[in-house]
Parts: sequence; C-alpha cells; structure tokens
Amino acid sequence: VKVGVQSVPFAKGQPKPGVDHGPELIKNTGFITQLQEIGADVKDYGAVDFSRLPSHVEDNGSSILKHTGLVASANKLISDATSKILRDGRICLNLGGDHSIGIGTIHGASEVYEDLAVLWVDAHADINTPYSSWSGNYHGMAASFNIEEMQPYLGKLDGFSWMKPKIKAKNLAFIGLRDVDDLERRAIEMTGIHAFSTKEVSNLGIEKVLEIALELICPGGKRPLHLSFDIDALDDLEVKSTGTPVPGGLTLREGLTVVEKVRQMGNLVSMDLVEVNPWIGTQEDVKRTANVSKQLLLNTFGPYPTATMAYRRSSC
Ligand code: ARG
Ligand code: MN
Ligand code: MN
Ligand code: MN
Repeated sequence: VKVGVQSVPFAKGQPKPGVDHGPELIKNTGFITQLQEIGADVKDYGAVDFSRLPSHVEDNGSSILKHTGLVASANKLISDATSKILRDGRICLNLGGDHSIGIGTIHGASEVYEDLAVLWVDAHADINTPYSSWSGNYHGMAASFNIEEMQPYLGKLDGFSWMKPKIKAKNLAFIGLRDVDDLERRAIEMTGIHAFSTKEVSNLGIEKVLEIALELICPGGKRPLHLSFDIDALDDLEVKSTGTPVPGGLTLREGLTVVEKVRQMGNLVSMDLVEVNPWIGTQEDVKRTANVSKQLLLNTFGPYPTATMAYRRSSC
C-alpha cells in the first residue's frame, strides 16, 4: 500500500483544549516507522497549514454556533490538502484533531473519487445541523455537511459556499452508535442512512455487522471507501483521553476487526482518526489511548503480524 499521512491539528469544532495535539501523540508512537519497516510505502506530509487562519474570530453573538468562520475556512484547507494526497496516488490518512475535520477530509476525497462510500465509526452520529445542534459544536454536525439529502436542513452558512456535497445517504453507514440526539435520530430515519448501534454489534457480532454495512454502502467492494474513525467508538475503558467518552462501546478487538475488514476489502482511499486528546486523563490513560491508536493504524495498513498469522506460522 501507498499511504500519505497528514496531521490535522484542529480543535475548534468542540470546546476542550488539547485535541489539536492528537496528531503528535499518534505520530510519536512510531507507527510510521513500524509500517515502513514491514514494507509499507508511507509518506509523511506534515501538518495542514492553518497558520494563515486567524487564531480567534468573534462569533456572531446571536448564535450558539461556535467558530463557524474558522471551521469553514479550516475545512477548505483540509479538503484541498486531502485531494492533493489522493492525486499523488496515496491513501490519505488524516490524524485529528476533532471530528469537525471530517467535513473537509470527506469533501476532499469525494472531489477525487466519484461515488465515495463512507463508513463512520463513532459513539455519536455527528449528524446535527446548525439548527438542531444544542451544543453549537461543529464536531457534532460533521456528517451532515457532505450528505446530499441533508442540504435542505443546513441552511446558508457564511464560509461554506465552496462545498459541493456529493455523498448519498444510502452510501453512508454508522457503526458503534450509542449516544444519539433525538433530531439526529430523525435525520437518520428521514435520509435512510444505515445505522448500526452497539446493540446491533452485540446481537449480531462485529463481523456480521461489518459484512452487512459494507455490502450496503459498497456492494462487491467496488466503490471507493472513506473510513472516519472517531476513537470514542471504542469503550471508555479502552480510551479515556478523548473529549466525549461514552460507556458501553466497542472493545479494542472489535475496533481492530473493523479496520482489518476494511483492509481486506481493498477499496480504502482515505481515513480519519479523530478525537484523541492527550490533555485529558492521567499519563497512563494517555499512553493507553496512544497505544490503541497505534494498533488501529498498524492493523489498517499492515500486513502486520497479527495473532492469527503468528499462529499459522508456528503451525506450519
Ligand atoms: N451530539 C453531541 C453534539 O452535537 C455530541 C457530539 C460528539 N461528537 C464527537 N465527534 N465526539 O454536540
Ligand atoms: Mn471563542
Ligand atoms: Mn464521537
Ligand atoms: Mn465523532
């Protein structure tokens, strides 16, 4: 595989400081070198350059929406940077940052790849709109922006006129949901997005859920796939260094199965790993969260000697 990694140190889609240091924490695990040592072609593109964005823009006082202008202009830069890596013929790996960066990464990928499918792995659906959001945080609205069927509900927002939404609701699936707002639930029902909560995961098993979800959004594995992985999809016991942890989530093994299935299918074109916040939790928590992130990435872009392979080797 050929991979292009970019840091996307953006934190203004939610209120907690530190999530913009997620990329350095993940990179410091050494996962890039480890992948290179096992033969993967991984190029580090550095960080999306936000230096020309103002560090603070006054929000319109009459609105609860937080940092609309910054989120909009940061995501234009993110979209262009993502498209560039894809045009270099690499899978684009985006290290966040909060989940609002998904607005730009998915947009950038959908500019290059027609008919993009999106697998959104998250405790949250992030499908609020500027009208339905009670928090005003854009990381809770990131999924809406690129979905064609959601456009009538988004309204006109300053700064987002560059966007050309291209994702069809039927080509998006959620896995891991367990904290969904009422109006988000309605949006999912109305648009026909496929949604698998943790309830479905425990009823059917993660393998079956993935099989169904992937066949729905990319039949025969033919459509290019974007994987948006919010680290809080995993259980709060596995991952404590994240802004909005939710109990009852995926185990690390289930999370690894997600990326392994995606790797097997062979149509991954871009991926986000978001909401890793090294400023939350104890030193131990941060170490554990970093290690979990590293495992996810090694198993996405392996071939990495997994237990199964080691077992096969020793038995032949
Ligand atoms: N639904 C809540 C909101 O709209 C929480 C969203 C959490 N999102 C996340 N990417 N962690 O604010
Ligand atoms: Mn402010
Ligand atoms: Mn989440
Ligand atoms: Mn999210």
